[in-house]
Amino acid sequence: VATHNSPRLLDGLVPGLADVVRPVDLVDRPTPVSCEPALATRWGLGELWVKRDDLTSPVYGGSKVRNLEFFLGAARGQGATDIATMGPLGSHQVLATATFGAYLGLRTRALLVPQEPVREVAVNARLLPALGMELIRCEHFHQVPLGYLRVRLKRRASTYWIPPGSKHPLGVLGVVEGTLELAAAIRNGTVPCPEDVVVPTGTCATVAGVYLGLALAGLPIRVVAVRMVPMLITGAGKLRRLAAETLTLLRRAGYRGEPRWGEVLWLDDYAAPGYSRGNPGAERAMEDVAALSDFRTELTYTGKSLALFAKGGLAGRRVVFWNTYSATDPDPDKVLAEVH
Ligand SMILES: Cc1ncc(COP(=O)(O)O)c(C=O)c1O
Repeated sequence: VATHNSPRLLDGLVPGLADVVRPVDLVDRPTPVSCEPALATRWGLGELWVKRDDLTSPVYGGSKVRNLEFFLGAARGQGATDIATMGPLGSHQVLATATFGAYLGLRTRALLVPQEPVREVAVNARLLPALGMELIRCEHFHQVPLGYLRVRLKRRASTYWIPPGSKHPLGVLGVVEGTLELAAAIRNGTVPCPEDVVVPTGTCATVAGVYLGLALAGLPIRVVAVRMVPMLITGAGKLRRLAAETLTLLRRAGYRGEPRWGEVLWLDDYAAPGYSRGNPGAERAMEDVAALSDFRTELTYTGKSLALFAKGGLAGRRVVFWNTYSATDPDPDKVLAEVH
């Protein structure tokens, strides 16, 4: 699926990893890091750089593609014929699973739980069935337990389960790889060493990968997690635990180094008034990006996280923003024409 990719940096760091996990190649590695002087000036930042994980794949980008390289590799390794997952109606993880599952000729199904009617909900309503995904939709949260059992138990023996949000060490490994790309760019001088790496945060799969990746690279840069989901399913403790579990997996594969952990700044102030519900700071931030740069934003994660800058946060600092949202929507006709 990937059109070009340099060797995985994780394989260089942990040569035994290939004996434990065999990811498939979906990501065009490395993704670029863009310099954003106009936005930095607008928001009073010292410097703003953007890790362009919106460009992980021309088929469908975003950070979830990185997680899927490892999940789909594991699914193939187990001989699974089906993959299943769950998420909100507009979930990028569900759309990425439908897209790349179809690419690899796997049957896909998902449990969809209620979400505010943001653009991604309409996009998924159109694209998921077109990609051949079987859907179990819950109109109300009380239907979720039964729906969960249905999605988990169907063809259980031949199904590989991808946890919601990719919250699992295998998913985290994909983001560690992306972070090693950033570390390499810092080391070779193409990107100056930032003071903060800012990550839109849901289940913590992405931010745990950034946190661990920087530690493995020996760059204890501060990681700023901007929370966008209820505390019930996330938190700084969960972030650290997920990073530690992923490190345990790497140790099992033979990693003997000592990570240099940086600081975590956990921010709760930008999630209001609720999941996928907008606020003036997010609107302003999204308008600024549309006027002054060329990457796409959405409200639920990236727009509301960027409100941190639009409202004067991290003023004067040199910052990398981890852009988790795909630059494009997938085209089902193209995906299904190219099943691998
Ligand atoms: C665009 C975008 N950004 C950030 C996140 C949060 O990622 P994580 O669940 O890994 O914290 C998601 C998760 O769905 C997402 O779709």
